[in-house]
Amino acid sequence: LIACTDSEKKTVIVAEDPSDKKYPVVIATWDVKESTAAAWQSLKEGKSALQAVIDGCAVEEANADGQSVGVGGLPDRDGRVTLDACVMNEHGDYGAVLCMENIMHPIAVAKMVMEDTPHVILAGVGAEQFAVSQGFKRENLLTEASKSGWEAWKKTAEYKPIINIENHDTIGMLAMDKNGVISGGCTTSGLAFKMAGRVGDSAIIGAGLFVDNEVGACTATGLGEEVLKTVGSYLVVELMRQGKSPQEACKEAVMRIVNKSKNYKDFQVAYIAMNKKGETGAYSIHDGFVATVYRDGKNTTEVPESYNSL
Ligand code: GLY
Repeated sequence: LIACTDSEKKTVIVAEDPSDKKYPVVIATWDVKESTAAAWQSLKEGKSALQAVIDGCAVEEANADGQSVGVGGLPDRDGRVTLDACVMNEHGDYGAVLCMENIMHPIAVAKMVMEDTPHVILAGVGAEQFAVSQGFKRENLLTEASKSGWEAWKKTAEYKPIINIENHDTIGMLAMDKNGVISGGCTTSGLAFKMAGRVGDSAIIGAGLFVDNEVGACTATGLGEEVLKTVGSYLVVELMRQGKSPQEACKEAVMRIVNKSKNYKDFQVAYIAMNKKGETGAYSIHDGFVATVYRDGKNTTEVPESYNSL
C-alpha cells in the first residue's frame, strides 16, 4: 500500500498498488461453499460487499439441516430457537439483532436496524416486532431434528460446549468488492441449549465481528463467552493495523484465549480475517475448523493452522 497526504497535508490517503491486489474476495467460517458462492455471485452482479455478505449468509440461515444458524438452529434449554446476527459496512456502521425468535433471516433484519432505525441493536420481542413491521414473516424455526436433539439433551441437561459442533457453527463472512470495499456479517443460533436470554459474541461489535475499511476485518466462531472477554475481532483488526498479517493476528487473538483460559481444551474458538490488500488468514484453538475462500473464481475450503490437535 502507498501512503500519501492530501493537498492540505492533513489526511493520510492509502492508495493501492495494483500489483498488491488480492480482491475481490469472500471468506467465511466453516465449509459453506454455497454461501460463499452466493456472495461471490452478488459481487459479480455489482452488488455491494454488504449485500454480498447478507446474500451469502442467507443461504445458511435458510438451510434447515444446519443446526447452528437460522431455521433448524438448536434451541435454548427451554426449547426456543433464538438468533443473533450483525453486520458492519465500510463506513463503520453497525446493526444487530439479539435473541430474536421466529424470523429466518436475522442478518437481513440487522441491516435494516443499521439503515432504518436510529439505533444499532434491537433485542428479543422488539427485534421480532421490528422485523415483522419491515415485512418479514414469522415462522417456526424449531425443526423436528433440532427438537429431538433438545429432548435428548434434556435427559442429562449438562452444560457442555461442543467443539466443532457438526463442523458447522456460527457463520461469519467477510467480503471485499472489486474496489477494495470491505463489509462483514455474522449470524448464529448461538450455543446449543444455552440459558434463556443468553447472547454470545456473534452480534456484538468488536467481539464476533469488526470491520475497519482502512485496515481490514475479522469475524469469529466458537464459544462466544471467550471471544467476548477478549473482544476478539476488534483485537485482530488492531493487530493488523500494527502490521501483522491476517493469519498472525488471528493466531495472537487465539493465544490470548489459550493463555487466559485454563479449560481451553474444552471449547473451540476460531477467527478469520482479511486485510486491506485482500489477503486472508485464519487460526483456531483446535483442529477441525475450516474456512471457505472464494477468490479468482475459485471456491476453496482451507484448513488453517490450529493451536492444539484434538
Ligand atoms: N459464537 C456463537 C456463540 O457463542 O453464540
